[in-house]
Amino acid sequence: MAEQNLMEKLVSLAKRRGFVFQSSEVYGGLGSVWDYGPLGVALKRNVKDRWWHAMVQAREDIEGLDAAILMHPRVWEASGHVAGFTDPLVDCRTCKARFRADKLADARCPQKPSKVPGEHAACDLTEPRLFNLMFKTFMGPVEEQAAVVYLRPETAQGIYVNYQNVLTASRQKIPFGIAQIGKAFRNEITPGNFIFRTREFEQMEMQFFVRPGTDMEWFEQWRALRMQWHHDLGLTPSKLRWHEHGPTELAHYAKAAYDIEYEFAFGWQEIEGVHNRTDFDLARHQEYSGRKLEYFEQATGERYLPYIVETSAGADRVTLTVLADAYREEEVEGEVRVVLGFHPAIAPIKAAVLPLTKKDGLPEVAEGLYAELRRRVPVFYDDGGAIGRRYRRQDEVGTPWCITIDHDTLTDRTVTIRERDAMTQVRVGIDQVAGWVAERLGRPA
Ligand code: GAP
Repeated sequence: MAEQNLMEKLVSLAKRRGFVFQSSEVYGGLGSVWDYGPLGVALKRNVKDRWWHAMVQAREDIEGLDAAILMHPRVWEASGHVAGFTDPLVDCRTCKARFRADKLADARCPQKPSKVPGEHAACDLTEPRLFNLMFKTFMGPVEEQAAVVYLRPETAQGIYVNYQNVLTASRQKIPFGIAQIGKAFRNEITPGNFIFRTREFEQMEMQFFVRPGTDMEWFEQWRALRMQWHHDLGLTPSKLRWHEHGPTELAHYAKAAYDIEYEFAFGWQEIEGVHNRTDFDLARHQEYSGRKLEYFEQATGERYLPYIVETSAGADRVTLTVLADAYREEEVEGEVRVVLGFHPAIAPIKAAVLPLTKKDGLPEVAEGLYAELRRRVPVFYDDGGAIGRRYRRQDEVGTPWCITIDHDTLTDRTVTIRERDAMTQVRVGIDQVAGWVAERLGRPA
């Protein structure tokens, strides 16, 4: 499968089957903003639930938080985003296209032919200007400077300014963490690649507060745990790798940073960052707010500003990753079979209930099973068309199990369960189906 082709196929399948739609499509769409359809919202929610389970529910040293998107404007001065969250922007004087000055590989001008037939000459670029990526809006009825607020460009700051509240309320002690899933906004100059880089997206971030001096040890621990999480999601291990930030790549707050990268059709790209943010953020909030943000360690009687190890993944990016990783085409009996081979835990639909025919009492039995399963897991009922075509429709959206009710069911109370990947079939007692599915779904890692 040609690699670029894969993205086109994914975008088309995502729309056709209700994973992802272009935002405001009836108005021609809004640049790099996307809506999740019925299957997409289920898939993304499964990804987020799995993250929440691993990062909050299964750990006694991490607490959850849901901070507001709008924050006091001083937060973004303290965090360094007002002054430094910028990309260098350049324009082509001829075709007016805009590029990030640090990513100029594609800067070819469609209006300027080159000496090589069929190719275009390089763009005629302006000097770089710094462009702040934060979206600004106004709070209150008057659009005056004093009321300017920002849509948060990362969820992390909501955690930092709440760290003492959470610490006191939860009676945690350092080392401990705060986790949050929420929307973030960036006015990206060059968004694209479907839901990979968008202007509105969701982050799954965890900030781990540690004693200074133990930060690199925790950094390494979190690196290992986060890579394992992506493996447990069922992603192909050979398509995951680490990228260490060199001195010129490090964000203004970071002492050390590694990205987890995935090999997409458009190259190796970051899906999560693990950062040692030192005490940069807390020190700045202490300075800008005038509030003491030190931690008092009872065991030693010492006061210090904790260091922070951050793990930051994009929920949309991870959703794109599981879609891209799951997509495959294979030839079965002379026909192309499209499969989304999701890990069952994240598949939007866990099972489909399919009466072989619409007569002889099969639908009544199938509907009974459907009603029973629906109370426990997301299931789909389909009685339309040949059974082979119904299987294919479920393969294409990644449903792990298809349960067929046939004439034998009426006499021996068994059904056929067909497994998506190997396409093998087993006969299971109709009363055992719910347990059979639950056993295979297991507990999220
Ligand atoms: N708090 C640290 C932080 O925000 P980042 O590397 O800028 O660090 C973290 O972003 C993660 O957020 C990225 O690895 C990516 O998964 C996601 N992300 C960032 N910008 C994004 C965008 N424009 N669209 C979709 N996801 C994005």
